[in-house]
Amino acid sequence: MNHNLSFLHRWEIGADPRGTTLLLLHGTGGTEHDLVDLGRTLFSGANLLSPRGQVNENGMARYFRRLAEGVFDLEDLHARTAGLAKFVTEASEAYGFDPTKVVAVGFSNGANIAASLLLSGTNTLAGAVLLHPMVPFEPETLPVLKGVPVFVGAGRTDPMVPIPLTERLVELLTAGGATVETHWQPGGHRLTREEVEAATVWIQKGERPWN
Ligand code: MLT
Repeated sequence: MNHNLSFLHRWEIGADPRGTTLLLLHGTGGTEHDLVDLGRTLFSGANLLSPRGQVNENGMARYFRRLAEGVFDLEDLHARTAGLAKFVTEASEAYGFDPTKVVAVGFSNGANIAASLLLSGTNTLAGAVLLHPMVPFEPETLPVLKGVPVFVGAGRTDPMVPIPLTERLVELLTAGGATVETHWQPGGHRLTREEVEAATVWIQKGERPWN
């Protein structure tokens, strides 16, 4: 890893260094190592860029502050979303990957900051795999997301993310022009094998901006 970049992170160069880069974003209490195997499963041969969240919540790393479960510190969220976008640019310069072929893969808190990147119109992501996301914030103006494919994995009995919240996120992304595929499973706030398989098929199928 390059110590001059703004996030502690793990970087793994792929089979085609100018090809797709997965931006791996862990859940609350995770590390930069958590989603590496998932990234390899979803897209073997992709570059992997995995930053560790910089907020410390009682010893647990997160990407932005929250006031309570599901209640976010919006000022902090916006500042850290911009900080993460800047990190991706810095990393593309340091490692030489193509900044137009970055696909986020985020779980829970990581999915929320990835959704925030999309809703903020940072243009950081060519696509995203959002696993158990919420609505990070309600944008005042819709971002332009035309041509951005997004996979949303959600659980019908997720105690942290009620169904209408997932539906609202899908609505916002779609209204911005993103092409959203939602994968519902009966379970709660955790990854399932079926969901990972569906995301793997999704990420590699057809014409993708990152292929
Ligand atoms: C969040 O704070 O982003 C959500 O509550 C999910 C999580 O706890 O990671």
